[in-house]
Amino acid sequence: MCGIVGYVGSREAVPLLMAGLTNLEYRGYDSAGIAAFDGTGLIVQKCVGRLSALGERLKNEPVEGRVGIGHTRWATHGEPSEINSHPHLDCTGRIAVVHNGIIENYQELRAALEAKGHQFISQTDTEVIPHLIEAALSDGAKSFEEALQTALKLARGAYALGILFKDQPDRFYAARHGSPLVVGVGKGEQFIASDVPAIVSQTRDVIYLNDGEIATLTPDGVRVTNLDGQEVKHEIVTVTLRAESVERAGFETFMLKEIHEQPRVLRNLLDKHVSPDSSVLMPGFGLSPQYFKKLNRVMIVSCGTAYHAGMYGKLLLENLTRIAVETDLGSEFRYRDPKIDPGTLIVAVSQSGETADTLASVRMAKSWGCKTLSICNVPGSTLVRVSDAVFFTDAGPEIGVASTKAYTAQLMAFGLLAIHIGLSRGEISEKDAQTLLRDLQAIPDAIHYVLRRKDSIRAIADKHHDGPSSLYLGRRFNYPTALEGALKNKEISYQHAEGYAAGEMKHGPIALINEYLPVVCICTKTRDEVYEKMISNVKEVEARHGKIIAIATDGDTAFDRLAEDIVFVPPTRDEFSPLVNVVALQLLAYYAAQARGTDIDKPRNLAKSVTVE
Ligand code: M6R
Repeated sequence: MCGIVGYVGSREAVPLLMAGLTNLEYRGYDSAGIAAFDGTGLIVQKCVGRLSALGERLKNEPVEGRVGIGHTRWATHGEPSEINSHPHLDCTGRIAVVHNGIIENYQELRAALEAKGHQFISQTDTEVIPHLIEAALSDGAKSFEEALQTALKLARGAYALGILFKDQPDRFYAARHGSPLVVGVGKGEQFIASDVPAIVSQTRDVIYLNDGEIATLTPDGVRVTNLDGQEVKHEIVTVTLRAESVERAGFETFMLKEIHEQPRVLRNLLDKHVSPDSSVLMPGFGLSPQYFKKLNRVMIVSCGTAYHAGMYGKLLLENLTRIAVETDLGSEFRYRDPKIDPGTLIVAVSQSGETADTLASVRMAKSWGCKTLSICNVPGSTLVRVSDAVFFTDAGPEIGVASTKAYTAQLMAFGLLAIHIGLSRGEISEKDAQTLLRDLQAIPDAIHYVLRRKDSIRAIADKHHDGPSSLYLGRRFNYPTALEGALKNKEISYQHAEGYAAGEMKHGPIALINEYLPVVCICTKTRDEVYEKMISNVKEVEARHGKIIAIATDGDTAFDRLAEDIVFVPPTRDEFSPLVNVVALQLLAYYAAQARGTDIDKPRNLAKSVTVE
């Protein structure tokens, strides 16, 4: 939800700002803008649409300067338009602000400012910030810092801000409350960005600002204070992320690259967490086997794709640990007044670690005295910092808006955790654990097998991408896979798709089935009766002439006459089959989107990181 950048130093600011914004464009692409000081004063350029439009404008009307801020927008308040694009200015044009987040009390602040004579031009919440600072300055604030503190004390909601002040062309300011912001510390130059990948090609030394902090950035250094002006000392952290990991590496899209990275990501996770003698390693984990022994309830909270991972986690944890596990969407959990006792472990799943509803749920649970464990991909993210324990999914930066490698890494994390907890509680034996780990270790190769068959998956997508809708059916461990396959399809191909528990089909969605409806049926073989039940469900679809696309186990002939098309996947243990099956569905969605000509890495209306409610 919006990306912000800032630079001060001895180099030209605009190319650096544009490079940073290019890496942040996945956070929003409704409009883009920059502000910089050139020799004459504060110059703002902004454009509705993609960053490339701003790039074109800057070619014709270049902006020079060694200090600047930039923004790429996902519209919340006010339609995507030039007027609503950031940076926003005060009445005098001396203060420019870029913002990620939402100022929740902006209407009352705006009314009060308008009553004092301030002129607003946009419909955004952000515009109150430069006006509040301007008002504090005219009310006698002794310094710009003091005016900024006064303004921010009045603002309620979430913000990461970059701020330029015309009277101080040697510096810029940044502030954070509830939205992600990282400060990059260079030699004679400083940066800010919404996340590390945007600045990693310039510096790996970073400061993670805390909520309620303001940074003053000059070429000579960074000074951090709280909202009362007291200095706060921060450790500089050196991040390990490589600049190449935020490049497409020859793939046509980030999503395709990330789909192909899955075997490597999962193998690395296995190497990190499985010892040569086949036990699960949890380095620096923070929750002991003794803790898990006594645990009797787990609540998993997450959103979107991460919610589907949570659904899978519930099934696996219940199976291997016999702990009662529930799942909920962050946006529901936080408002439903759940009955949770302090003994419940809250597990938050999030790629970004910045999803507003997931974070709010964790904070709420902490206030009830619950322990929190996060399964997260981004070191230094807010979720990581507020959780008691963290399982890092180590998938590397995920740039494609549609989550792929982060999802399978979340499933793998649940696999490893469930085995670890099951062993700690004595619910599974050492021997069971070794068998489970061996089966988990077969997953990366099984995914390779699916990737090698991508041309046949593309042919199926080419055949079925046209219709208005599709249905995805799965049972038990693959019910979440059906939901995830449908989500992938709708978010990148814009074809309506519905995921359903196959056994529920008779209770409604069967009415949708006719000879035009593609029905993706996940029917890989299982050790129990679920497979046979799934075959019955496929037959019910066939009887109504639905166009069946089966995801089936290699060598299984049961669908030869039932299905119009079959994607074969290698045999895997039931419990871990979702890690493989979902890759077939990712590719199916990918090629459908390609055939429909959508912008796969930046689907319309979406943003990678949902930092507002
Ligand atoms: O960063 P998070 O995992 O917390 O994000 C949660 C969802 O916003 C995210 O999974 C979203 O649903 C993806 N676009 C799905 O591909």
